[in-house]
Amino acid sequence: MDNRPIGIFDSGLGGLTVLKEMRKLMPHEDMVYFGDCGRVPYGTKSKETVIKYTMQDIKFLMSKNIKMIIIACNTASACSFELVKGTLSIPVIEVIDPGANAAVRESANRKIGVIGTTGTVSSGIYEKEIMNLNPKAEVYSAACPLFVPLAEEGWWDNEIAVKTAEEYLAPLKEKEIDTLVLGCTHYPLLQKTIAKVMGGNVKLVNSGFEVAKVAESLLKDLDLQSGSDSKQTSEFYTSDSTEKFELLGSSFLGEKISSAKKIDIEKY
Ligand code: DGL
Repeated sequence: MDNRPIGIFDSGLGGLTVLKEMRKLMPHEDMVYFGDCGRVPYGTKSKETVIKYTMQDIKFLMSKNIKMIIIACNTASACSFELVKGTLSIPVIEVIDPGANAAVRESANRKIGVIGTTGTVSSGIYEKEIMNLNPKAEVYSAACPLFVPLAEEGWWDNEIAVKTAEEYLAPLKEKEIDTLVLGCTHYPLLQKTIAKVMGGNVKLVNSGFEVAKVAESLLKDLDLQSGSDSKQTSEFYTSDSTEKFELLGSSFLGEKISSAKKIDIEKY
């Protein structure tokens, strides 16, 4: 039993799509969320910069006496997980492996598409993970960098979102994939638009739910589950305007956020 909270972070609001699934699956676990909205996007930055940011995000969350960290950002997971794992005194979960596993499980024709930020796609990490799981799979990737600002702006299903999706997804449609991994935690916000453009035969994998399942089972295995029966609480921190975080974050989370705090992440 361990009543300390779970720490979750992302470059911005995208990780709230993971937090949402975590809260649903683990209603008695307290959570601390950090969204680095002052420095979003990570996906267009160099690997060195993303590693530096990730280390600072982790250092901040560690100051909150957490029992587990979820890197709820594909870009940070792709660039830093190998460096981070094993260096902390608490377990760390990344978002790529759970998404890759779900894609291999879901795909019938073994033609799998992956969309993500430029950083995630150019790392080739999904191809590697998927091919390890099933060497017969065919993996087609596309970077969709504009999906992140569209998601952060709340433009999830307007005409611009649809046009952008049509442009980015056209090459994947030609490959006749039957499964598409939303390899960026911002993308579930555009899920409706992406589904519309891809058509009904393509299954979309939102790794938030998969990550929550991995976290739940790891807590159980390590005997770190909360002993409390009370409803969980979440604390929210951001490196930019709390007003914007609360306003848009509430729609990301599907629940009102009213007490976000601003921190200076450069101090960590
Ligand atoms: N949400 C992040 C991800 O999953 C990155 C978005 C960004 O900062 O570019 O990759």
